[in-house]
Amino acid sequence: MPVVIRSAVLNDMPAILALEQQAPGAAHWTRDQYNQLVSSGIVLVAEEAGQLCGFVCAQAGAGEWEIENVAVAAAFLRRGIANELMRALIPCAKNEVASAILLEVRESNLAARGLYEKQGFREVGRRPAYYKNPAEDAILYTLRLQP
Ligand SMILES: CC(C)(COP(=O)(O)OP(=O)(O)OC[C@H]1O[C@@H](n2cnc3c(N)ncnc32)[C@H](O)[C@@H]1OP(=O)(O)O)[C@@H](O)C(=O)NCCC(=O)NCCS
Repeated sequence: MPVVIRSAVLNDMPAILALEQQAPGAAHWTRDQYNQLVSSGIVLVAEEAGQLCGFVCAQAGAGEWEIENVAVAAAFLRRGIANELMRALIPCAKNEVASAILLEVRESNLAARGLYEKQGFREVGRRPAYYKNPAEDAILYTLRLQP
């Protein structure tokens, strides 16, 4: 069954929140914060046979986009779905004439770091002890977009 990538709508919110709560390593956001992102149009979801199996969300600001979260449901991992979500997001940022996409990730999150590096993101810095529970450094990544 093919995976479809599309923009999220407000009706997707229960499935997005449920997926996020079950994804270890995902950032945890409130429903209001997701609603705001959906309204500003930068949440993409992956769907297979009508089941929401992944999402990515980003925020635009000052010519740069920031990825706020990306998660794939446990039963769908390692099937290239996060890759597809990222490959769909990057042209959206280019269309909006963003100069770069930024993000931060826990140092130990090797799955996410592998995903970002595969998409061409480069490590550009570190924020010591940025995360709590457990305390951990954030690694900063940037993807520069050609004008
Ligand atoms: C990170 C995450 C979104 C990847 O989703 P996915 O659909 O399984 O990823 P893909 O199958 O598209 O894999 C893309 C690349 O990511 C990397 N990757 C994914 N899972 C990995 C793992 N368990 N270990 C190491 N690298 C991994 C690999 O480089 C992979 O490319 P490859 O398959 O050619 O080796 C998923 O593991 C997840 O939801 N994690 C929990 C939430 C999270 O940590 N989000 C990041 C918040 S900053």
